[in-house]
Amino acid sequence: MSIRLKITTKNVRDYFFLEKLTPEKPSFLFKCSIEEYNDYLFHDAIRSLKDHIAKTWLLCEHKTGKIAAYMSLIMDAIKLSMTEKELHGLNYPFKTIPAMKIAKLAVDGGFSERYKGIGSFMINAAIGKAFDCNEDYCAARFLTVDADIEHDKGVLVFYEKNGFTPNAELSNKNRKTISMRKDLYK
Ligand SMILES: CC(C)(COP(=O)(O)OP(=O)(O)OC[C@H]1O[C@@H](n2cnc3c(N)ncnc32)[C@H](O)[C@@H]1OP(=O)(O)O)[C@@H](O)C(=O)NCCC(=O)NCCS
Repeated sequence: MSIRLKITTKNVRDYFFLEKLTPEKPSFLFKCSIEEYNDYLFHDAIRSLKDHIAKTWLLCEHKTGKIAAYMSLIMDAIKLSMTEKELHGLNYPFKTIPAMKIAKLAVDGGFSERYKGIGSFMINAAIGKAFDCNEDYCAARFLTVDADIEHDKGVLVFYEKNGFTPNAELSNKNRKTISMRKDLYK
């Protein structure tokens, strides 16, 4: 196997640019290992954008314009246990804390073979969007995700390596997904 180039926040601009999904952008060449995630990008992402259900960001290659990765961001609120609230220094009487959520994230298989760190870069990009939101528009303390362990149990490790912690209050009790959070300010 050839050596994969590591993509970081420092070198990402040499190879890729981030842009918003638009109806004009051809997305059909994107292919990750999970068919459901390809289908979402081809069929549902534009509809979700128009209905203000999810906003999708694309990481595109400078050279070819091809989509290397995508993520869909939405607003969220998470329930934390008393212990979790204490852990984050959030001793407020309300049950939920505002968050931004990565509703979908996928990296194209061809790009995964050539580069590592694209998924982690996308998480960093989501953190950047959450900071922008906090700075200018509305508050979000956490970045959240429902890690899709139905398709790949290893994805939990990927999110843990990127600083996410499983929530005690699991939103999905059948455990096809694990609700996770990352404190944006600790
Ligand atoms: C999961 C996914 C986004 C990871 O993207 P990626 O570009 O391969 O991830 P990175 O290269 O940034 O990986 C960061 C670290 O996590 C690890 N990691 C990534 N995916 C992993 C997996 N599936 N299982 C175990 N570890 C994984 C990497 O080995 C790397 O570890 P290291 O820093 O010790 O070298 C990508 O594999 C993907 O699109 N999968 C299909 C769709 C999917 O599962 N999306 C998430 C749904 S919630």
